[in-house]
Amino acid sequence: MDIEVRSAPIRDAESFEAFRDLLRSVNLPCDDLSLDRHLLIGYYEDNRLIGTGALELFGPYALLRSLAVKDALRGRSLGSRITDELIDLARENKVEKIYLLTETARLFFKRKGFVDVDRKDVPAEVQASSEFSGVCSDSAVCMVKTL
Ligand SMILES: CC(C)(COP(=O)(O)OP(=O)(O)OC[C@H]1O[C@@H](n2cnc3c(N)ncnc32)[C@H](O)[C@@H]1OP(=O)(O)O)[C@@H](O)C(=O)NCCC(=O)NCCS
Repeated sequence: MDIEVRSAPIRDAESFEAFRDLLRSVNLPCDDLSLDRHLLIGYYEDNRLIGTGALELFGPYALLRSLAVKDALRGRSLGSRITDELIDLARENKVEKIYLLTETARLFFKRKGFVDVDRKDVPAEVQASSEFSGVCSDSAVCMVKTL
């Protein structure tokens, strides 16, 4: 990566709004996100938000979502770096399996060690999340990474 970036947890309303704006700009769901339920990470170049990622924790399971990098900065390993940070965060929280749904980035996640999984094999609490039960389309592929 040839740009200087820093990551920071999203905790206040203003950063949260910028986080959701970036997700809207890449057509990822964001209306169901909450500062209480989700661990949100923002990536900044200077003070400009350029990347996002989120985890929702369910005991030994986590749902990875909201991974996005601004169009102009893609292909410079930022998405990979955000994913690695989310995986580390999951490990710190004693997560054993990370699940996700994706329509466009299956091969990206495959390279990060995720494999396809049948939705019916996903734990009930993860299936009950807003992402699984509503906001993400039925055509999305479900993937899992065992830590
Ligand atoms: C998916 C996304 C976050 C990747 O970000 P990025 O910063 O471009 O990713 P990286 O530069 O770290 O890519 C790492 C590798 O994966 C590849 N890759 C990136 N996006 C990919 C995709 N959608 N499908 C397949 N491979 C992909 C890159 O070409 C790169 O390969 P290389 O190492 O051979 O050069 C970005 O494309 C994005 O924001 N997409 C729109 C939102 C989205 O679909 N998010 C995922 C749903 S949760």
